[in-house]
Amino acid sequence: MKNFSDIIREVGVIMAIVKNSKQLGNGYYRLDLADSIIARKGIPGQFLHIKISSDNVYDPLLRRPFSIYDINRDKGIVTIVYRVVGRGTQILKEVDRGNHLDVLGPLGRGFSTDWKNKFLILIGGGMGLAPLYFLAKKLVTSNRVLVLAGGNSEEDLAFFNESYGLLDLNLLNATLDGSTGYKGNVIELFEEQLSYYNPDYIFGCGPRGMLKRLKEITEEHNLMGEISLEERMGCGYGVCLSCVCNTEKGNQRVCKEGPVFNINEVIFDGQD
Ligand SMILES: Cc1cc2nc3c(=O)[nH]c(=O)nc-3n(C[C@H](O)[C@H](O)[C@H](O)COP(=O)(O)OP(=O)(O)OC[C@H]3O[C@@H](n4cnc5c(N)ncnc54)[C@H](O)[C@@H]3O)c2cc1C
Ligand code: FES
Repeated sequence: MKNFSDIIREVGVIMAIVKNSKQLGNGYYRLDLADSIIARKGIPGQFLHIKISSDNVYDPLLRRPFSIYDINRDKGIVTIVYRVVGRGTQILKEVDRGNHLDVLGPLGRGFSTDWKNKFLILIGGGMGLAPLYFLAKKLVTSNRVLVLAGGNSEEDLAFFNESYGLLDLNLLNATLDGSTGYKGNVIELFEEQLSYYNPDYIFGCGPRGMLKRLKEITEEHNLMGEISLEERMGCGYGVCLSCVCNTEKGNQRVCKEGPVFNINEVIFDGQD
């Protein structure tokens, strides 16, 4: 059995250099980190576990998980996009270019990317659009891709519309206030699109209630796909069991067996 230091060595603690940290508007931030190992190894759907507190200070105590938004392998840069929601992200947004951040990663199981000549639909709600961007970038090279982007308003989706808009794919919006695209949530938009399209495979990421409904719809339409789950995390590498979710295979660790799971495996019980 592996001991704690074996696991840490395997996971790899990396001191990544902050290359760029900037506000994107509407509470979103972008952080570019220079690290050749993560940039070489990271795949879509994996995440980084970032120590927010500075050296020898453990407040906040726990690391914070963020999906890989993009990787520039040539330059050795990995990017995350995040929203400020609490203390950790408040501190993170203050990091300056040239600072070092203590990062574990890349962690977890990512999305499958080995698709060719397929029609694929990616459904993202809110920050769920962050991990899907890197996936979309991979998939568009040899597949037809439709991205359904859901948010509260046009302003909420502005950054993602700009970034996804540069890729060779079709992009549709759903906004709760109807300021752009379909008026309603992204799952309703997905249901509407299923009357025109029959995707070979789907990918989803977003709030739990959205993913639960997505699973119901994929079952009704006999579709297959993958979703990325979010749970509060402790260690991030499979030891503390704080992130377990219920699946057809029993309890699984979101940080280790996930965060990406086959949609038909996940059991959404309890509260949304
Ligand atoms: C695998 C994974 C990938 C993620 N990727 C991204 C990403 O790419 N961009 C991004 O902005 N966020 C992402 N998150 C969520 C991010 O980790 C949290 O927003 C962050 O940890 C909040 O830290 P905080 O100290 O600012 O907020 P806290 O003070 O810890 O919490 C503030 C609020 O956010 C909620 N919250 C905190 N963590 C989570 C979580 N893990 N899941 C759901 N709600 C949470 C809390 O319930 C609370 O309401 C991801 C989470 C996971 C598990
Ligand atoms: S966060 Fe510790 S086991 Fe997943």
